[in-house]
Amino acid sequence: MANEEVAPSGVDMSVPSIARVYDFMLGGKDNFAVDRAVAEHALRITPDGPQAGQANRAFLRRAVRFLTEQGIGQFLDLGSGLPTQGNVHQVALRHDPQARVVYVDNDPIVLAHGRALLADAGTATVVQADIRSPEAILEHPEVRRFLDFDRPVGLLLFAILHHLTDDENPKAVAARLIDALPSGSYVAISHFRDPGDRHPDASRKAREVERIFNESLGTGRWRTDEEILSFVEGLEVAEPGLVPVAAWRPDPDETAPEQSDTYHTFVGVVARKL
Ligand SMILES: C[S@@+](CC[C@H](N)C(=O)[O-])C[C@H]1O[C@@H](n2cnc3c(N)ncnc32)[C@H](O)[C@@H]1O
Repeated sequence: MANEEVAPSGVDMSVPSIARVYDFMLGGKDNFAVDRAVAEHALRITPDGPQAGQANRAFLRRAVRFLTEQGIGQFLDLGSGLPTQGNVHQVALRHDPQARVVYVDNDPIVLAHGRALLADAGTATVVQADIRSPEAILEHPEVRRFLDFDRPVGLLLFAILHHLTDDENPKAVAARLIDALPSGSYVAISHFRDPGDRHPDASRKAREVERIFNESLGTGRWRTDEEILSFVEGLEVAEPGLVPVAAWRPDPDETAPEQSDTYHTFVGVVARKL
């Protein structure tokens, strides 16, 4: 698509989209010139952006596997993004052949490509909805059809809460979603982080990319550890706590990541509802 620049119906290729900018960072082809311009602008400040995206996806795969090991067989993946390598249902099904996954995103391009990917899967579905209206997601007939809210659910909030402004109250959004889950459920979060004085250079660059994101995409908030941890307040945080995504239970055969700027500015946490 990158060469043809043809948009699926409902997709506006004159305005950059978060899903497509991220797709470009991951080396995907479902993006347009307008998306690449935003990504390239950010890459001038943090050239290791693609590694950050890959590290986030690797964290997602390890976290989903961890959740299946804890007996979680159903997943609600919010802000799921365009299909890429190692999608949630593919990882979950490897560990639990009965696993069920609902993907939710508000970008029509995710729906177009998601439906094609899932056409004959049967164990996963994709829904267009906005996380800022958690009630609509929880009451969505497809979500209710696919997930049993009497059994523990894995709530996946990867690289999505940092796309909500403070005014949109991501803490209340997360709390409403977690409130709907039975005890024994898990929430996994990855989030842009401002490391502050601990890594001043990385912090300064995060602020610059934050400005670019807000000017071009109208979104993006690099939060402090305290702000991010507030999303899982009252839950039991799994070891090793809130850490750079690459440092969350790395596989033994994974080489230690280079601690570049984005290493410190993209963090993850997994927690269990008691
Ligand atoms: C950076 S991507 C993350 C994709 C995937 N979760 C991951 O971590 O690899 C963020 C996704 O969130 C979606 N998104 C942004 N704001 C949203 C909202 N208010 N409601 C639902 N989805 C949203 C975007 O369309 C995009 O697909």
